[in-house]
Amino acid sequence: MTETALGFGIDIGGSGIKGAVVDMATGQLVGERATVATPQPATPAAIAHAVAQIVATCAWAGPVGIALPSVITGQIARTAANIDDSWVGLDVHELFTQALGGAPVSVLNDADAAGIAEVAFGDEAARNGAVIFLTFGTGIGSAFFSDGTLFPNTELGHMHIDGAEAEHFASSAARDREKLSFAEWATRVDTILHEYARLVNPSAFVVGGGISGVAEQWVPLLTVDVPVVPAALRNNAGIVGAAMAAHGHVAP
Ligand code: BGC
Repeated sequence: MTETALGFGIDIGGSGIKGAVVDMATGQLVGERATVATPQPATPAAIAHAVAQIVATCAWAGPVGIALPSVITGQIARTAANIDDSWVGLDVHELFTQALGGAPVSVLNDADAAGIAEVAFGDEAARNGAVIFLTFGTGIGSAFFSDGTLFPNTELGHMHIDGAEAEHFASSAARDREKLSFAEWATRVDTILHEYARLVNPSAFVVGGGISGVAEQWVPLLTVDVPVVPAALRNNAGIVGAAMAAHGHVAP
C-alpha cells in the first residue's frame, strides 16, 4: 500500500490566515484548519510570525505553500493592495523560508492558488475552455485558465469600472461595509462581470471566496450571458492550491 501524499497550504487573507494539511490525491483537508486573525498592520514580519505559528500548531514538517494577496513573480511580491505596502519588492521566498527554519517554501497569488485547486479538484467547468476564476473577499482576486492552464497574476479586481476599482464596490467586504442586500450587491457583481465578459470573452466564470458558500442567494440574480459556476472547494481552495504549488504544480 502506498502512503498518502500530504501537503501543507496556508492562505493569507485580509481578515484571517488559515492553514491545513492537504491530501494531495483528493484535495481534501486532513484534520482541522488552523486559523489566526490577520495582524494589523499586515507587515511581512507579523505575517511571517503568524505563518510559523500555524505550521507549529499543525505540527507540520515539510514543504509549505503560501497564497498571498499580491502579484508574485520570481518569488518577489510586486503589489500590496490589502496588506502593508512594505511587501512591495520583498523576496517572499526568503522571508518565509527563514520564518520556517529552512523548510521548502513556494509562494503564489491567492486567487491563482484557489483557481488551480478548482481546476484540479472542483467542477468540470473550471477545466475546460477559457475560464475566469474570481474570488470575492476583502478584495476581488482573479485567475485566468485556458483548458486548465494558468495565465498567472491577473488583477481584474483593480479594473476601473464606472469610475471606481471593481473591488472597491463589488467585493464581499464592500457588501458588508455598505450593508448591501444580496440583490443590491449582485447588481454590482453583474456590472463587473458584463465588463469582464465584454473584454475577455470567457466560456465560463467560476466564483469563489467565502460568499460562494451562499451562491444560491446571488448567482441566480446575475444577467451576464456567460455561465457562472460556484467554486466547488469554497473557502478552502486557497489552502489546497498553495499546497499544490509547494508540490511543484506551479512554477511562479
Ligand atoms: C489583490 C490580488 C488578490 C485579491 C484577492 C486584490 O486586492 O491585488 O492580488 O488576489 O485582492 O485577495
